[in-house]
Amino acid sequence: MKQVARQARSEGRLTGLVPTMGALHAGHLSLIEAARRDSNPVIVSVFVNPKQFGPAEDYKKYPRDMEGDRRKLEAARVDVLFAPSVEEMYPAGFRTAVNVEGLADRLEGKIRPGHFRGVATVVLKLLEVVAPRFAYFGRKDAQQARIIRQMASDLALDSEIVVCPIVRDPDGLALSSRNAYLSPGERKAATVLYRSLLRARGSIELGERDSMRIVAMMRQELAAEPLASVDYVEIVDADSFEPIVRLTRSSLALLAVRFGATRLIDNMQMEIAESGIRCTI
Ligand code: PAJ
Repeated sequence: MKQVARQARSEGRLTGLVPTMGALHAGHLSLIEAARRDSNPVIVSVFVNPKQFGPAEDYKKYPRDMEGDRRKLEAARVDVLFAPSVEEMYPAGFRTAVNVEGLADRLEGKIRPGHFRGVATVVLKLLEVVAPRFAYFGRKDAQQARIIRQMASDLALDSEIVVCPIVRDPDGLALSSRNAYLSPGERKAATVLYRSLLRARGSIELGERDSMRIVAMMRQELAAEPLASVDYVEIVDADSFEPIVRLTRSSLALLAVRFGATRLIDNMQMEIAESGIRCTI
């Protein structure tokens, strides 16, 4: 992989990397489309990273479909599929980890201790191996994208981190490889994440600026769905990921909800615009 990437760089080409854990869906493909717009070659990594799963999490049963993924990547005219083995990424004696202080301890990081340490470690290694001009991530995982941006800035990485919009099913559910775990009943119930974001946006459009009141409305929406069990609903500053009292800066509404054994996350971006606050779901 290093050799191929080095060759492309020496030809003056702008390499793009899309890191994934496979089981590819239209969300991943949207990152590839974005990459195809400004990068060549487009490299997609497929690696189910054991270091970002907790001991009680779904590493073993995480969906894997290398043949299906290969077909989708060919159809999307991706130039290189990089699918290293666990032994190749973490040979015996591997000892290094990347910890993005503070940002990695809240929200997802609090519920999944060590998760972002595993993410940052693997992403830094992928960025080191491929050294792409651009690396593409989804806003679906907003805290992950923020942490990777911080790491790239702190460590003066040469890759530019590009964050792409959330791709949703027609009923609003954000695409995720983990949606495959949902029973038909849970799948129906899962649209409540989107509905709670719509409810928040509706109230903001009517002038609501108080975080606690917006969060209360989102919780009310979620409480109406008996299959949903809430991990967190928070409104945070988009830069610090610290909770905010009023929507006065660029912020995010973030939520994590369980349906049986399946945990789903979603978010809405809120930016101050001339006309008021622009909400992007
Ligand atoms: P994975 O969950 O496979 O996601 C790969 C990339 O696709 C991430 O940047 C994620 O934010 C993006 N993505 C997932 N669902 C999306 C959706 N509905 N719309 C837009 N983008 C979406 O995230 C990971 O893998 C891993 O943590 C990884 C970064 C590869 C490190 O192991």
